[in-house]
Amino acid sequence: MNKITIAIDGYSSTGKSTVAKQVAKTLGYIYVDSGAMYRVVTLYAIQKGLISTDDFNKEALIYQLGNIEISFQFNPVLGFAEAYLNGVNVEKRIRTLEVSGYVSKIAEVSEVRRKLVAIQQQMGEDKGVVMDGRDIGTVVFPNAALKLFMTATAEERAQRRYKELLERGDRVTYEAVLKNVTERDYIDTHREDSPLIKAKDAITIDNSNLTLEGQYEKILQLVRLTLEDEE
Ligand code: DC
Repeated sequence: MNKITIAIDGYSSTGKSTVAKQVAKTLGYIYVDSGAMYRVVTLYAIQKGLISTDDFNKEALIYQLGNIEISFQFNPVLGFAEAYLNGVNVEKRIRTLEVSGYVSKIAEVSEVRRKLVAIQQQMGEDKGVVMDGRDIGTVVFPNAALKLFMTATAEERAQRRYKELLERGDRVTYEAVLKNVTERDYIDTHREDSPLIKAKDAITIDNSNLTLEGQYEKILQLVRLTLEDEE
């Protein structure tokens, strides 16, 4: 059977990665979390003191981009690939609200985007990949066979992310999470380089009122139809 490329874009905390992982597992495809790469670069910038609440040394980050090596290693216990920064497992550290607070600023930098898009395109070279992010159907894989655009209300998304962070033991408030979600929506959709927009040929999935199973079934159906078309 032909392998296809599946591009999943959408707002933050719409459950893109959950469904992308499920679909990749069912098809035996590789799952790539492109947001994790922007988070790794953000963690690097924080660690090197290049970004803080009132300062961002963009030029220094651009200069140091060559020092940032991003990789993924499959963790069979967790069932997905964890992110590494220069050989160190940073999977947990990139998911904090601190990293979420700075990541959209980092993702605005064109030099960062160019570096990450090149890595992403290389990872998808042989197809058989499910990748989620903000510009996958528009910039990274404009010829993807199936493009999905995921959305849900900001309140619903903040509630989901809030629950996730609490379960991990992070002490955050719902209001802080909602603020982060709406701020990131704004920056992601208004940035000059590769803003989050729905590709013309993408199918919108609003999952505000869908269960995880309902959403998975719906998407799997679309995958099957696309695979039949490709035969
Ligand atoms: O999917 P996520 O929430 O982990 O992504 C983190 C941030 O990275 C998001 O706010 C915007 C940015 N991003 C991007 O600009 N392009 C992508 N393809 C993926 C993520």
